[in-house]
Amino acid sequence: MIASAPGKIILFGEHSVVYGRHALVSAINLRCRVEARKSGDFRIISPLGVTGMDFEVHPYVSFAIKRFSELKKINGVELVIRSDIPIASGLGSSAAVTVATLKALSEEFEFTLSDEEIFELAKKVELDVQGRASGIDPFISTFGGAWIFPEREKVELPFDFFVFRLWERSTKLMVEKVAKLRQRHSEVLEKIFDAIDAIALKAPKCGSEDFEELIHINQSLLRAIGVSSPEIDELISRLEKEGFRVKLTGAGGGGCVFGIYRGKKPEEATIVKSEKEGVRIEDS
Ligand code: PMV
Repeated sequence: MIASAPGKIILFGEHSVVYGRHALVSAINLRCRVEARKSGDFRIISPLGVTGMDFEVHPYVSFAIKRFSELKKINGVELVIRSDIPIASGLGSSAAVTVATLKALSEEFEFTLSDEEIFELAKKVELDVQGRASGIDPFISTFGGAWIFPEREKVELPFDFFVFRLWERSTKLMVEKVAKLRQRHSEVLEKIFDAIDAIALKAPKCGSEDFEELIHINQSLLRAIGVSSPEIDELISRLEKEGFRVKLTGAGGGGCVFGIYRGKKPEEATIVKSEKEGVRIEDS
């Protein structure tokens, strides 16, 4: 059985969402596909390697198998993973592989899980691996669409986007960096988070011109809280000279920057669309 789930893009609200502010997040049309076949033992085949249950190489998939086995005992499975979503780039590859794995397992072993149950299990897996998580990524991967968090208010986004990949980075380290800055200057950082909150709430009501201005403002605020870098600033200023408005998406320090696609994109960038469909079964 083959299941697939989408990645995600945080448009506005990264970091401030950790401190109770709003974020605007959308599923994107890059998907992770997982094929599950009953077997006598456990085998996980992905671009990261071929392993058994391996919590180092394949932590999300291994914990997904473990969590699923707690509900339905299984003696073995072969999982083949293919993904369009770049890893460690803030585009939700970990949640997508987790959600697609749970769906493929539930279909292959005829133990039906509702989308709500898949989401709840995927959230547990995220906590198993990361220790702390907001649950936004598994939610988006399961249900698709664009949403304001934490209320889970669905919104329509009339734009396509381009994403420009930088390099891999650790979300955990960037979140810690902001936490340290906040400890030293909480009265300042709280005001910046409030400004980002206003952006996340305003953006879904905006046309493309205002939306691009908000991109520009939010990037300046992300820079202010220390998650940009001289290299990223330089790249952004090159793209701005070419007429684009871009900001980091996700934890920063690397990952990706994105902008609205208006018929023109930086040469190296990929176009992504807001994706309505969440996890689904694919034809074999
Ligand atoms: O880069 P990502 O996709 O891991 O996103 C991190 C988003 C943060 O707001 C920085 C952290 C969080 O848990 O919301």
